[in-house]
Amino acid sequence: MIPGDRVLARLAHLVEEASGNAVGPAQAPLLAEAGRRRAAAGGFADLAAYVQALEGWALADEWRQLLPLVTVKESYFFRTPEHFRAVAEVVVPQLLVARAGTRRLRLWSAGCARGEEPATLAIVLAEVRELAGWDWRILATDVDEEALAVAQSGVYGARAVAAVPEPLRHRYFRERGGKFHLSAHLQERLDYRALNLVHAPFDLPEQPFDVVFLRNVLIYFRPEAQQRLVQAIVPTVAPDGFLFLGPCETLWQLTDQLAPVDLGDCFCYRHPAPAPPPAPTVPPPPLACPARPTPPAAPSTPPHQVEAGPTRPLPLPGAEAVATAVQALAEGRQEAARSAVAAALLATPTEPAAHALEGLLADSCGDLPAALAGYRAALFLDAQLFQVRLLLADCLARQGARERARLEYRVVLRTVDSGRGRELPFTEALSLPSARAARERAATALRSQFPPPS
Ligand SMILES: C[S@@+](CC[C@H](N)C(=O)[O-])C[C@H]1O[C@@H](n2cnc3c(N)ncnc32)[C@H](O)[C@@H]1O
Repeated sequence: MIPGDRVLARLAHLVEEASGNAVGPAQAPLLAEAGRRRAAAGGFADLAAYVQALEGWALADEWRQLLPLVTVKESYFFRTPEHFRAVAEVVVPQLLVARAGTRRLRLWSAGCARGEEPATLAIVLAEVRELAGWDWRILATDVDEEALAVAQSGVYGARAVAAVPEPLRHRYFRERGGKFHLSAHLQERLDYRALNLVHAPFDLPEQPFDVVFLRNVLIYFRPEAQQRLVQAIVPTVAPDGFLFLGPCETLWQLTDQLAPVDLGDCFCYRHPAPAPPPAPTVPPPPLACPARPTPPAAPSTPPHQVEAGPTRPLPLPGAEAVATAVQALAEGRQEAARSAVAAALLATPTEPAAHALEGLLADSCGDLPAALAGYRAALFLDAQLFQVRLLLADCLARQGARERARLEYRVVLRTVDSGRGRELPFTEALSLPSARAARERAATALRSQFPPPS
């Protein structure tokens, strides 16, 4: 797993056992740094002594300190806005009918980071006039108690709230000293609790939930751990409830107890129901969700902005297949990726992401001609995809097509500098380079591989 460092490999194994999060070679430096820091704080002679103590489970409390350092907390308000639009326009109207008898709703944000996701759900529900007087609450859980403490404080930086539409920001936050304080009325609806998703079954008194958000957590787990987590999650979703995963995540090959349901520009999972759900009788509340923002850029990095992704939604089979292929590629499961890419191409032949994934898959197998064909097809459909352009240029360089590669690297620079570059949608899990990083890589390649004649 982490070649060349047995102590670090043992630590990675322990972290995975304790939290489900797989630590790959890319995260090794981060893990080493976190381990050394904790070893020093605990007065251990070195990392090896610290790992030995962890292995003996003599440091049960230590995990509360270590896990926050090694888990990914990336989140912000209205992340994947189509999910929140679907909650407002499809899920809540159905639940208003289904729960009219009890006037009670329970939602769960599992792996809630610093509370951005459950607080967004609270904003969405607070906007529904018909829910006034209802008993609705949102449980927000995470393994990271430091993140939960931030969530409980309800204080966020500008970057976290950048995608909140202005009227909602005005209504639900107070700005003080450059920080945004979540309204106390919303905080009253949120229950925060430490919960490790690896420790199933979950001791949650109010389950099953009407809506479960388990977004961008599975992505860090290996397939066996994903399977265990999904098995534990299924019974927490009410028989007529809704489960949302991250846009790159899927239950394909994990369970067939829940089935994907098309929500227009995204999908969720539900227990297969014999009868179609009742049509909404309450008009959906208007919610000013943003179109599809790119993750908000830190204020200190204005150059190399990218345009928002496509507004065109993927139809359900394509969306699921793309998500499956992304996940399989991220985990290096080429066979699974191959069938998912084929399904995506069949379902959405004009979707650039499907072709780019075909290119990536071929690239990972060393099939350069097929990789070039996939990247070119994606760029034919959307010439502004700078990450795909960079992949194409790298591929050409490896193939020895130096002049073509040089031209493509230069197009990467031009696309990014023009501000019209677009990120490849639906592929967050693949960690493709940002606009800044892509520009840097193209510039470096041009400098090192194609130096100007002296
Ligand atoms: C990338 S964040 C996702 C946050 C939010 N769901 C979203 O999509 O914006 C992943 C979160 O999962 C949490 N997490 C990771 N492993 C966990 C575990 N075993 N139990 C509970 N939470 C976990 C991390 O601490 C982190 O806050």
